[in-house]
Amino acid sequence: MLDVRNLRKLYGPTPALDGVSFAVGKGEMFGLLGPNGAGKTTLMSIVCGLLEPTEGQVFLDGKEFHRSDRELRRLIGIVPQELAIYDELSARENIRFFGELYGIGSDLEERIERILASVALTDRADDRTATFSGGMKRRLNLGVSLVHEPQLLLLDEPTTGVDPQSRNHIFEEVRRLNAAGITIVYTSHYMEEVQALCPRVGIIDHSKLIACDTLPNLLGKLPGRLSFSARVLPEKAVSRLQSLEGARVALPDPMSVEIECSDVKRTLLQVVSILSEEQVEMTSLETTEPNLEHVFLHLTGRALRD
Ligand SMILES: Nc1ncnc2c1ncn2[C@@H]1O[C@H](COP(=O)(O)OP(=O)(O)O)[C@@H](O)[C@H]1O
Ligand SMILES: [Mg+2]
Repeated sequence: MLDVRNLRKLYGPTPALDGVSFAVGKGEMFGLLGPNGAGKTTLMSIVCGLLEPTEGQVFLDGKEFHRSDRELRRLIGIVPQELAIYDELSARENIRFFGELYGIGSDLEERIERILASVALTDRADDRTATFSGGMKRRLNLGVSLVHEPQLLLLDEPTTGVDPQSRNHIFEEVRRLNAAGITIVYTSHYMEEVQALCPRVGIIDHSKLIACDTLPNLLGKLPGRLSFSARVLPEKAVSRLQSLEGARVALPDPMSVEIECSDVKRTLLQVVSILSEEQVEMTSLETTEPNLEHVFLHLTGRALRD
């Protein structure tokens, strides 16, 4: 569906994008994760034809895409990071305005009703957008992007300034659209969102794509962690833990154990069985599965939130 080849974008001498290539298949939900300033919005703007790249190409359905190509442009819907809706218009008028821009004919009114319902704004449809909460505006921003029924939907930080309820609405709607066959590129600096939604993820940092793989492949390269404390830790229990296969055991103090392991669930079962056989009473237990934050830290040496 989307094929991005060696994209480069310079603003003055510094690149905002530097040799970015990746492909997204039809029907995929692809996540693009990276900290602020990484180049995500620049990339989305080039893919949807708002910006011209300095170098590189974008292919849509196998055809090279140029900004002037209205036909191909219609395949794309963009939910921009900066809200692109009119405060003076109502929700219904906003969707109608964009629908008319796209020249949607007789079924526009029906589409508007469907979209209003899908972003849960039917009961506020005729209120001025200026009176909306941040979450409602974000939902309308998503609704507006759907009016021409795009096949590829680009979402650029769609949950910025959004309350948890609206966030869930947006997640549900994005999942529903994907299930209906729409290809999605979901851009965010929140690793939890990308991890919850996207089976395949690209990680972008300092204008470069530094990783691009399925979630299990990205996470599978990193160890998980399991740590616990006990009132008393007999030597025999410790030595049995130390001989566990695929586990690295550390003892930060005489009552605590930290284990790095490739399979947290399996190691947890083994640890529980050893401790019960050795009659060791745990006083606390914590397990940590690897997440995209750890992947980013592993790749860059920095936390995603820095
Ligand atoms: N119009 C512009 N002029 C100059 N620099 C820009 C412009 N737009 C973005 N940049 C710079 O390009 C880099 C990437 O920005 P952006 O694509 O917005 O990142 P992200 O969306 O990941 O936060 C940043 O360093 C930003 O300051
Ligand atoms: Mg951005």
